[in-house]
Amino acid sequence: MKAFRASILRFDAQRQAVFDMDGLLVVGHVDGARCERVLAVGAYEAVAPLVPGLVAEDLRGRIIAPGFVDLHVHYPQIDVIGSPASGLLPWLENYTFPQESRFADPGNAAQVAQFFMTELLRNGVTTALAFATSHPASVDAFFTEALRRGMRMMTGKVLQDRHCPDGVRDQTEQSLLDTEALIRRWHGVDRLGYAITPRFAPSCSDAQLRGAGELAARHPEVWIQSHVAENRDEIAWARELFPDARSYLAVYEAFGLMRRRAVYAHCIHLDDADRALMRDTGAAAAVCPTSNLFLGSGFFDHAGADRAGFAVGLASDVGGGTSLSPFHTMLAAYYVGREGQTKPGLSLSPQQLWWQHTAGAARALGLDGVVGNLQPGCEADFIVLQPRCSALLARRTGSAGSLDELLFAMIVLGDDRLVERTEIAARAAP
Ligand code: GUN
Ligand code: ZN
Repeated sequence: MKAFRASILRFDAQRQAVFDMDGLLVVGHVDGARCERVLAVGAYEAVAPLVPGLVAEDLRGRIIAPGFVDLHVHYPQIDVIGSPASGLLPWLENYTFPQESRFADPGNAAQVAQFFMTELLRNGVTTALAFATSHPASVDAFFTEALRRGMRMMTGKVLQDRHCPDGVRDQTEQSLLDTEALIRRWHGVDRLGYAITPRFAPSCSDAQLRGAGELAARHPEVWIQSHVAENRDEIAWARELFPDARSYLAVYEAFGLMRRRAVYAHCIHLDDADRALMRDTGAAAAVCPTSNLFLGSGFFDHAGADRAGFAVGLASDVGGGTSLSPFHTMLAAYYVGREGQTKPGLSLSPQQLWWQHTAGAARALGLDGVVGNLQPGCEADFIVLQPRCSALLARRTGSAGSLDELLFAMIVLGDDRLVERTEIAARAAP
């Protein structure tokens, strides 16, 4: 057992932040669990007597919070972050596909996976649902690195058998065989999970989408990830390619790719029927505000998602997105919410923003109570924030008069400097 004394942030079942100014977090191993869990948490006064004799690491002045969950990110795109383009489709053609073609080389994949995960941890992200590339070796490299670090991570081989160049395009039948082999090799190993990954409907033939849907039906615990309704040109293209579908989103439904554990990035240009489909199938939206602002894709409709009641979580979408820092993503989500705001007040509250990047994103993955929170039973992935990491943050957090003001100060001013330490739950002894 280990204990940490600090201010502690976590979330209750009503999505409200619970903050113990002088708190104690106790983590340790429980029978049958793969890794350390939260055993007890709360006010120091109340929790310390439960663990007599256990000496806590003294982190007073710091804030312990759940590790962030990035609901959609492309690890191979870390090296094309900040590449300018007039919009999504030229960006894919000019930067993304050439970069992804380099992942045919397992050595390159291993080196990038290592760098990417170091960067995630430096930014306080402990779980991600990530795209690899169309090369199976890119998945092996990612999972090998995540396993070495004991992280809870999901990825999958990108499926794209048309409308993309040599070097990244795959073969329909082989792509499905490779996917099934990777599921068997990796899904459920330690804390790893496989995600069936059709890039987006325009890059997948009917046969490939049908095969992906069949795999999803055979493996209900595996995740599905794709992109939808990001950009007007992309949507017009999808409409041309699938003229019989009611909408772009409905293409995925037709192929059996809408269900719980299916995560669709962007979901910007949806209508109410699409939103109802998201809710009724249990699919979730990965909201990617820095990417949507950078590529000029549009503004996610947070109020529309709330009205319909489908699951959402925040995501960096690096390399379309401009930062792996959850603080940058939360601030961008706040700006995007301002765009569609119909009621006076804040667009999203700081507690909502933080929840959507931790417990909310975990819930969107079907992992509530597992990651993204620090309630008893959760896996013990957490971060230690140092609110005095810069002169300005020290002044501003020091004068915060409420929890919302403190959280907002960190969202607006925070970046990787704020994350003093990231702890991944230690694996249980075999
Ligand atoms: N749509 C299809 N592929 C991609 C991608 O790599 N990034 C983004 N943002 N959108 C996509
Ligand atoms: Zn993406």
